[in-house]
Amino acid sequence: MILSKFIDELPIPPILKPRWKNQFYTYYEVNMTEFRQSLHSQLNDTTVWGYEDGYPGPTIEVESGEKVFIKWINNLPGKHLFPIDYTVHGAHRDVPDVRTVVHVHGACVEWESDGYPEAWFTKGFKQVGPYFRKQIYRYDNCNHACTLWYHDHTIGITRLNIYAGLAGFYLIRENRERSLNLPSGKYEIPLMIQDKTFNKDGSLYYPKQPEKPIPELEMSITPKFIGDTILVNGKVWPYLKVEPRKYRFRLLNASNTRFYRIKLDSGQLMYQIATDGGLLEYPVGLKEIMLAPAERADVIIDFTNLEGKNIIMTNDAPAPFPGGDKPDPNTVCQVMQFRVTLPLSSVDTSTIPAHMMPVPKTKEQSVTRVRCLTLNDNMDQYGREWMLLDNNPWDAPISENPKLGATEIWYLINVTDDSHPIHLHLIDFQILDRRNFDVEKFNKEKVIEYTGPAMPLEPQERGWKDTVRANPKQVTRIIMQFGPFTGLYVWHCHILEHEDYEMMGPYIVIR
Ligand code: C2O
Ligand code: CU
Repeated sequence: MILSKFIDELPIPPILKPRWKNQFYTYYEVNMTEFRQSLHSQLNDTTVWGYEDGYPGPTIEVESGEKVFIKWINNLPGKHLFPIDYTVHGAHRDVPDVRTVVHVHGACVEWESDGYPEAWFTKGFKQVGPYFRKQIYRYDNCNHACTLWYHDHTIGITRLNIYAGLAGFYLIRENRERSLNLPSGKYEIPLMIQDKTFNKDGSLYYPKQPEKPIPELEMSITPKFIGDTILVNGKVWPYLKVEPRKYRFRLLNASNTRFYRIKLDSGQLMYQIATDGGLLEYPVGLKEIMLAPAERADVIIDFTNLEGKNIIMTNDAPAPFPGGDKPDPNTVCQVMQFRVTLPLSSVDTSTIPAHMMPVPKTKEQSVTRVRCLTLNDNMDQYGREWMLLDNNPWDAPISENPKLGATEIWYLINVTDDSHPIHLHLIDFQILDRRNFDVEKFNKEKVIEYTGPAMPLEPQERGWKDTVRANPKQVTRIIMQFGPFTGLYVWHCHILEHEDYEMMGPYIVIR
């Protein structure tokens, strides 16, 4: 079943209204519910999970530095939409099937409000995980203006909860950004890109077993999920009518496993203005943009003088990345369509600024600790792929324990064949470089022998990041300063099937 493309309009999630707001703080409540929603006009309505009865959830917009409190409320039914693998960490039969915890991805936040994977809670907070500390989360929003997103983070079932629909945008704004005169208001649109597969009846499909089934298990986690249909903001292959002028699009890859290499079939440039952590120093004109799961790219696309044109946003990244199958030109190669059919409602006075914000380089001289961390591939007792961070399962004693205020360099030594988007909670980092190395020698002797020079970064990676592509057979180096909070956080691969099966570890910022 291939659904028709570009017959449904792109939905734009509503902005969430606070319950209260005064000069000191803002308070929101967000309910998680199950409901039916139309994901494509040729499909029956699909049962999904969402925040405030929407998939994606409503967009939360805050000011940099605003004190925000959010009560995340689980109002989901007791039965999960998808097959649960009870052998996966944290998802054994001793806990209820439907558990949730919310993480604002990229937030600078105290650990008790970060959505620690074992801080889950059930409906009415009846049952809670061992690290649950409070019902109402506190966000200090000490980030600069940036595109964040909130999503579920429950240990062992994050892939299923996000796939069910539990994700939304969280935007931080700031006057410095306003003064740049970027396209704004109705000309600023978030785009959440995901892949899914549908059953004939319109329900969402998630596999019970990997390609090579595990006979001992009724349901087993799969090392990847690759959907055959692309959705943007919860609609399959939507279109968006635009005016012949500049627009700002906040691209987010919220897929489980799929990477995207985004292009416009008009061949025109996209001007990337921001990365995960906010504005770049200057805009970068790009023909293609790579987005691994959880990465964001904020771009300006100029439709001026393109009246009457239809422009398709395309994707040509193999899945899994980079060694997987080429995407099908009839399906997942296409993302959405822009139709330049609206009349220009007023003169476009927005700009693509020449300079945006200084991004000072974190100094390598201030580094007090260097950590070498491998990304590795193992096999579990059922012969399944079991990917780990530095060979440690989730429950291993915590070895990453940076001091508050310390600057560290982490060497992400990827000995696997996949590219892993590695995400650290709490902080933004900078990417130093990537470098090929001799994997066999490393596996045998535990020494890094580089086989080529350090590769310079593309200009669009020279900004603040919270998720980095650690490519196969490369050492990727990142640098960061830990703070301003102490406490227990996590770092992990953002391929959700990897994260759920132990490619995640706790880290602790100590005093
Ligand atoms: Cu997008 Cu640990 O999360
Ligand atoms: Cu991974």
